[in-house]
Amino acid sequence: MIGKICGTGSYVPAHFLDNNDLAKIVDTNDEWIRERTGVVRRHIIVDETTVSMSVEASKRALENSGIDPEELDLILVSTFTSEVLLPSTACEVQKELGAVNATGFDLNAACTGFLFAYNTAQAYIASGVYRTVLIIGAESLSNTVNWEDRGTCILFGDGAGAAVLKAEEGEAVRPVTHSDGSMGDALTCMSRHRKNRPIEGEDLDSYMKMNGQAVFKFAVRCVPEVIRETLEGTGIAVGDINYFVLHQANKRIVESVAKRLKEDISKFPMNMDEYGNTSSASIPILLDEMNRKGMLKRGDKLVMSGFGAGLSWGAAYLEW
Ligand code: ACO
Repeated sequence: MIGKICGTGSYVPAHFLDNNDLAKIVDTNDEWIRERTGVVRRHIIVDETTVSMSVEASKRALENSGIDPEELDLILVSTFTSEVLLPSTACEVQKELGAVNATGFDLNAACTGFLFAYNTAQAYIASGVYRTVLIIGAESLSNTVNWEDRGTCILFGDGAGAAVLKAEEGEAVRPVTHSDGSMGDALTCMSRHRKNRPIEGEDLDSYMKMNGQAVFKFAVRCVPEVIRETLEGTGIAVGDINYFVLHQANKRIVESVAKRLKEDISKFPMNMDEYGNTSSASIPILLDEMNRKGMLKRGDKLVMSGFGAGLSWGAAYLEW
């Protein structure tokens, strides 16, 4: 059995900060941010929470799929930015949706989280344990960002994306995810915060800290490798893929991956200009945008690939 995506949804806060807004907070400018990252705006929570964004994205995904909440067997939420430790975001989403027949849990694999959730859902579906699974990537990254660090605060935004998977006859997906804890220091966040603005007296070391160049080098090396790995043995060549749906961290990373795979950049849709890096939400938000714009036809061949803290990285091949 295989889980087919039968609906997508997303939610981003209406409030946003553009590059000129950030230039008023830290020593940076629009030109530097656009050129080095491709980011122009990032949407930031006001009253929203990781749970509320997850619920909105999920309602839209369910509506898009034509599936009722009661039909869901499992809800998986990928996040490292839930406002509370307990209860889990998945249980809150289950309650809000009225998904009374679903069980659920959260998982954390930073920006690769949606891939881990997708592969976990596929494993449950392939083994026959569950048939209808809601997977969500949701982050309130603005809570974890040090708004005095120009190396990170320009990159990240908030949002949520969701997809509904339904079991169909078909060959199971081979999960391809990797972890390398020995490089964990490259991207850390030591504490859980609930307010997306500096709080006087708070230890800034506890916010997100990143060795940008180390993460950049790791991403441009590992993403092409893991994309090739996920296609191994499928009979599908890199050139057969219609779209590569990559984690939206940096335009230069996506361009470098396209170059290394010798594929045209038009196969790599991007939206980090509007949303910045939304971590585990970036792939499902992009997928939802593509779906709603009518870019995807049944049978299209897609590869999703993510990378991030851990370090962690992964890819998945799917037919739309
Ligand atoms: N505005 C202006 N200047 C800046 C800024 C800024 N916002 N940030 C850094 N600079 C300066 C630096 O101080 C440095 O100045 P110097 O030459 O005088 O020392 C110069 O710009 C170059 O800095 P670098 O760090 O070398 O810049 P780089 O080209 O590497 O770009 C960036 C930095 C954008 C962070 C890049 O390294 C990157 O995107 N890395 C990948 C990060 C990433 O993808 N992280 C997400 C992982 S997902 C997850 O798990 C959460």
